[in-house]
Amino acid sequence: MKQYLKIDEWSIIEESFDPQTQEISESVFSIGNGYMGGRANFEEQYSGNSLQGSYMAGVYYPDKTRVGWWKNGYPEYFAKVLNSTNWIGINIDIDGTALDLAKCTVSEFHRELNMKEGTLSRSFTATLADGKEVKVESIRLVSMVRQEIGAIRYSIQPLNFAGTITVTPYLDGDVKNKDSNYDEKFWNEVEKKGLPDGGYLTLKTKKLDFHVTSAMAFDIFKGDELLSIEAEAVEQDKYVASVITLPVQSGDQIVLYKYVANVTSRNHGLGQLIDAATTALQSAKEAGFATLLTEQSEAWRDKWKESDIVIEGDVSAQQAIRFNIFQLNQTYNGEDDRLNIGPKGFTGEKYGGSTYWDTEAYCVPFYLSTADSTIARNLLIYRYKHLEKAKENARKLGFTKGALYPMVTMNGEECHNEWEITFEEIHRNGAIAYAVYNYVNYTGDKAYLGQYGLEVLVEISRFWEERVHLVPHKDKYVMLGVTGPNEYENNVNNNWYTNRMASWTLEYTLEALAYLQENEASRYAELADKLELLESETEKWAEIIAKMYYPADEERGIFLQQDGFLDKDLMLVKDIPQENLPLNQKWSWDRILRSCFIKQADVLQGLFFLGDRYDLETKKRNFDFYEPLTVHESSLSPCIHAILACELGYMEKAYEMYLRTSRLDLDNYNNDTEDGCHSTSMAGTWMSIVHGFGGFRVLDGRVVLKPSNPGHWTSYAFKIMFRGSRLKVNVTDLEVTVTNETEVPASITIYDQEYTVNGLSSITAQGSSITV
Ligand code: BGC
Repeated sequence: MKQYLKIDEWSIIEESFDPQTQEISESVFSIGNGYMGGRANFEEQYSGNSLQGSYMAGVYYPDKTRVGWWKNGYPEYFAKVLNSTNWIGINIDIDGTALDLAKCTVSEFHRELNMKEGTLSRSFTATLADGKEVKVESIRLVSMVRQEIGAIRYSIQPLNFAGTITVTPYLDGDVKNKDSNYDEKFWNEVEKKGLPDGGYLTLKTKKLDFHVTSAMAFDIFKGDELLSIEAEAVEQDKYVASVITLPVQSGDQIVLYKYVANVTSRNHGLGQLIDAATTALQSAKEAGFATLLTEQSEAWRDKWKESDIVIEGDVSAQQAIRFNIFQLNQTYNGEDDRLNIGPKGFTGEKYGGSTYWDTEAYCVPFYLSTADSTIARNLLIYRYKHLEKAKENARKLGFTKGALYPMVTMNGEECHNEWEITFEEIHRNGAIAYAVYNYVNYTGDKAYLGQYGLEVLVEISRFWEERVHLVPHKDKYVMLGVTGPNEYENNVNNNWYTNRMASWTLEYTLEALAYLQENEASRYAELADKLELLESETEKWAEIIAKMYYPADEERGIFLQQDGFLDKDLMLVKDIPQENLPLNQKWSWDRILRSCFIKQADVLQGLFFLGDRYDLETKKRNFDFYEPLTVHESSLSPCIHAILACELGYMEKAYEMYLRTSRLDLDNYNNDTEDGCHSTSMAGTWMSIVHGFGGFRVLDGRVVLKPSNPGHWTSYAFKIMFRGSRLKVNVTDLEVTVTNETEVPASITIYDQEYTVNGLSSITAQGSSITV
């Protein structure tokens, strides 16, 4: 863990340049707009360690699978988020020497991610080997308003010399993915044109034919004077540039405004790409950089209005939660239902494909509460559209019916290729079913079941039906050979979480069927016909529910993570020598698998999802047993523990977990932020405040709040959008105030007391402590 970023309410700030932390900063300072984004690479050349990354959402590459030992059922490819044209590049050459921060002395370095306004800026003074000094300031944005537009203002000022500065804005498509399986490059050039005032470049992927056109234009100023200089146009393989050479005096300020449009064949016909790019580009350039900045800050002001969380009395926690919310809003905006939320968003390559169970388990709750419900609905429909592929996937693994959604996917096909995860970590199906419930329970949109939800539920139920089997001597249904959420043990029997989510899915499917039969009889009949639903199936599901086996330890009063868990050598995380952590970087895999140490919430994940079915005592016993064994080496872990700790009144633990989830990337807790940020777990951070400290649940169509104060904050306030209303919940030590910012009244329960918050008004409830 290295804390080098300055604490600030609205910005992430780095105040000196350290090549050792450059790749971490490239991840943390990433910017994007849901359509495209990229790491905070420098505009000018940089020869130090760096992961260059510009990404276009949904543009991927099916990289041929690479495994040591092929197993039947493995996917042919791993879909990689594709590093695409580097559009931010501006090379600077000073009297024949490239400006390269790895090769000069850097002072007064300042890098800032301004989360209020949505910009990334940087300034520094560089002293070259020959003593020449320049001052540089840059600011860039990826527009939240014009999704295809990115823009940069880059200024350079010689401080102690007269000479020649060459400024070269360029588009470079000769890029590669660090995680390429066979060290291949993934792009071919289609067309390019270098022009005296810009240029364009069209590339297409070697497989799948995604086309991306990037077009750039620029204005260059000396002081306030717009220079009408003809740049020298340069064309090379997959590269266009405009070379501008200027004589300068000490103190002159050269300012380049670089505008870029990146358009893809996902949104435009192949014949229209250049036109589309040029039109978007011209309009952005005509609007000008100042207008783009204003549009950007207005768009972010609106986003913050819906999703900001304000923490008084703890700037570090405040910065952290805003960082998480900012990154989530940069990663996914719900406007394109073909897209999903990759675990690294636009901040890195790792984890390749775009969709994990992270979306349903962690991100759906965030979008349900902070955006229009169509966004969460789009995330669900994404899975609905993949249902046929999920059925094919189940067939491929030998199932005669049902659907197994992939562990990792881009287009519905499985991409993951480690047998213990691809074939065994099937609990993901439970999270997908749970998201349907969560959405319907939250929004009240029961029509969704008949439209899309039921088909998904039935096919997942059919999978569970075939995946369990009855053991006659126990008269119980068991599920063998699975990996639960805790990936630090594989191929276990009867993972409590998986068994529980399987039988829960069956229950919910039966409930949804009954609802439709009663309320939408003709749709029910249509679906029963389409799905060829048999009475014998639903009877079987009821039997499985009644006879599902749940491993438990009666003596301790806990659910067992799996049949053999108590045979392990039980030790506590607090007794692991510090230098052995993180285990996944210090221990052999074999040692990890045999140990009792848990990567992330497993039994506790189930107690969170199905929280209204278990009493506090049960949660407490399980938390007290499992949390001390948990190393939280998945970014998805601390948030679930924070939420349960709040429920149990373990406020110090909750706060510790909150800090760990919220500052995971800012403080590089897991020593891996250089690969990219943990974008999906950021939704978990939001959950730890809203569902954790705020105690927010939706029960019987009502907002239920049981807020508690972690003790380190004077107050905190969060927003929830609920069935047409937007509520601001402000919590101090003594009271909870709920303000309805809309005209739609809301029924809420605070500490078991019922209230109606009328439109544009507030209610206040007195604080209460939670005891177990
Ligand atoms: C976690 C999974 C998660 C994946 C992507 C893994 O480390 O164990 O639960 O889906 O990361 O975030």
